Amino acid sequence: MFSNKSYSPSKDMSYKARDNSADVHDGYTEQQQQQYLKHLRQLKNEFEQRWRSKPTFSITFDELDRVRTLGTGAFGRVVLLRHTKSGKFYAEKILEKEKIVKLKQVDHTLFEKRILEAIRFPFTVSMEFSFKDNSYIYFVMPFVSGGEMFTHLRKMVKFEEPLAKFYASQVILALEYLHFCNIVYRDLKPENILIDKTGYLKITDFGFSKILQGRTWTLCGTPEYLAPELILSKGYGFSVDWWSFGVLLYEMNAGYPPFYANEPMKTYEKIVAGKYRCPSSFNPDLRDLVRNTLQVDITKRFGVMKDGVMDFKNHKWFRGIEWDAIVNCRYPAPFIPKYKSPGDATNFERYEEETLQPASYCRFESEFVDF
Ligand SMILES: Nc1ncnc2c1ncn2[C@@H]1O[C@H](COP(=O)(O)OP(=O)(O)O)[C@@H](O)[C@H]1O
Ligand SMILES: [Mg+2]
Repeated sequence: MFSNKSYSPSKDMSYKARDNSADVHDGYTEQQQQQYLKHLRQLKNEFEQRWRSKPTFSITFDELDRVRTLGTGAFGRVVLLRHTKSGKFYAEKILEKEKIVKLKQVDHTLFEKRILEAIRFPFTVSMEFSFKDNSYIYFVMPFVSGGEMFTHLRKMVKFEEPLAKFYASQVILALEYLHFCNIVYRDLKPENILIDKTGYLKITDFGFSKILQGRTWTLCGTPEYLAPELILSKGYGFSVDWWSFGVLLYEMNAGYPPFYANEPMKTYEKIVAGKYRCPSSFNPDLRDLVRNTLQVDITKRFGVMKDGVMDFKNHKWFRGIEWDAIVNCRYPAPFIPKYKSPGDATNFERYEEETLQPASYCRFESEFVDF
């Protein structure tokens, strides 16, 4: 019913690592990484095939009922949908064409759509269908029911170390996959990380993502999470995502971000100076990892140096994390969100509802011709 004919998703996303159980060691060996890279090359191939093909959908817009709002953002809102025939639930991101044009986000939104259509990884959301009408464009994704990491983090104040490690390892694997496909993400933060019903993560919101060849200069993201090289308009690359990962790592373990002030300008000053303090609860391994990731000098930043993600995969703080078990979701999640039934949205905050009023004529037709 929901098949998408022109996509060729891999039948099985699981990663078949050779059994290394006889080889007792800490961390991830070069041999394991080489084997994993073969898997990533295959995923990248599949990404590129989907990137080139135009998807077709076997579902119509009027088969979907809107249930309630799950989240709002600068350009629109995300709503819970129910497919009337199958009873399946989805999350629909609704974007207003007028706002996108006014805020000069047409190119970003086209990247968002095409990237969402083409990515397939255990820790990222992806597109199921997309539509447009006279006034809006709609991206329909699987509904991730556990809510935002943000909500759980604020409720728990900070994450216990095993939970922070569990989440951090998935974010590293997701960024490794995205960068391998030449995608720079650019908006890593707890609001854009969702927890699914199994307790594993899904990164959502590819609104600032793009395919990166060489360097880029656009100022985008969220103040507390911006990398120094981005603030300084230096021209930057994938390094900005590893910086944001450092901010996330700190925030998950502390309960607040490392660089914070009342005004964005003051926050930026602290970021470019690399000035932060770790709470006394951070152990030496965690401090060392934070220091190497929140590294203003990108030639010394973890994730960007010659060993790439191996600097993370073999860091002492991640001792005990089995990377192959994580990528296959075979590691028991330390926290499972409450979930009563399909379509249960109680993990999401309530927002005022709004009825959509599409115009009677097609607005901004030429700007959105590729959508
Ligand atoms: N697939 C999804 N399942 C459930 N909720 C989602 C999903 N995608 C987004 N959301 C919710 O909607 C919010 C806004 O979506 P997002 O794509 O981040 O929009 P914006 O670009 O406006 O920030 C998210 O923070 C999250 O709470
Ligand atoms: Mg967002």
